[in-house]
Amino acid sequence: MAIQWYPGHMHKARKKINEAMPQIDIVIEVLDARIPYSSENPLIDQLRGKCPCIKLLNKSDLADPAVTNAWRSYFEREKGVKAIPIVAEKKGEARQLIQKIAHIAKTMLGDRNLKLRPARVMIMGIPNVGKSTLMNGLAGKVLAKVGNEPAVTKTQQRIRLADGILLSDTPGILWPKVEDEDSGYRLAVTGAIKNTAIQFEDVALYAADVFLREHPAVIVARYKLKALPKDDVALLEEIGRRRGGLRPGGHIDLHKASEVLLHDYRSGALGRISLETPQIIEAARAAQTAQDAE
Ligand code: G4P
Repeated sequence: MAIQWYPGHMHKARKKINEAMPQIDIVIEVLDARIPYSSENPLIDQLRGKCPCIKLLNKSDLADPAVTNAWRSYFEREKGVKAIPIVAEKKGEARQLIQKIAHIAKTMLGDRNLKLRPARVMIMGIPNVGKSTLMNGLAGKVLAKVGNEPAVTKTQQRIRLADGILLSDTPGILWPKVEDEDSGYRLAVTGAIKNTAIQFEDVALYAADVFLREHPAVIVARYKLKALPKDDVALLEEIGRRRGGLRPGGHIDLHKASEVLLHDYRSGALGRISLETPQIIEAARAAQTAQDAE
């Protein structure tokens, strides 16, 4: 499943970020805490060079807190990287975050007086991770919504936040990393890739399979099942039967069932479920390396 999500934009984005980097002291990369690997864009790490990076694990209200903590330690193994779980939607979160950014800026940028030379920060990330929500919270007002065009716009203005922090008023938008099939599906399950990009029912079947294997008790409880369905299709059929997907003649509307399952996951009705752990990603990387060697 090769998804060219932003065909032709990679070169443009690389060029624009390269141009913007000299004016940036700290990169703030927004990730989806449920899929911190697949919601990253490797270009950011490549292009930021020695520029410090704060990885914000956003939507952490929807992710498993223990897994988010594991990701935090995982990212912070790298020099110059700080990781902070956040809920950009939560009131008051931005205020606390500004203080944390200011503190990190002081430690990461050395002994400089931020009042005299404020730290210039820029928010980057793939679409739908919560960049606009976060920026509105930080700016304390609703900023113009930028489209999902990748990279940095020419007309950057800076917003003065408290404590010597200057924020670029438009984020750097990058495409998601769809290097393998699992990443594509996980992005689609969270809603980062819109439903039209991959067959909707395929996405729900992928999610059903993961939930059956890794969260069987949650599934049984949520859909009031007597027993665990034998596979992904059986689960969607059960959901269809119970949640408005039963059509005349006993036919089950799998599209409707898919909508229910994905909506339940995305809204948090299934609880806080992370789709990626550092271990899963390390194992996938090791398998890939072994395959490449062959
Ligand atoms: P973007 O600029 O990176 O593209 O993302 P944006 O802020 O537009 O946020 C995308 C969706 O994610 C929005 O939902 C927003 O409300 C939601 N969101 C942002 N931060 C959080 C968070 O901390 N927790 C949760 N649970 N949701 C968050 P939306 O407007 O309903 O869009 P959609 O879901 O229809 O795409």
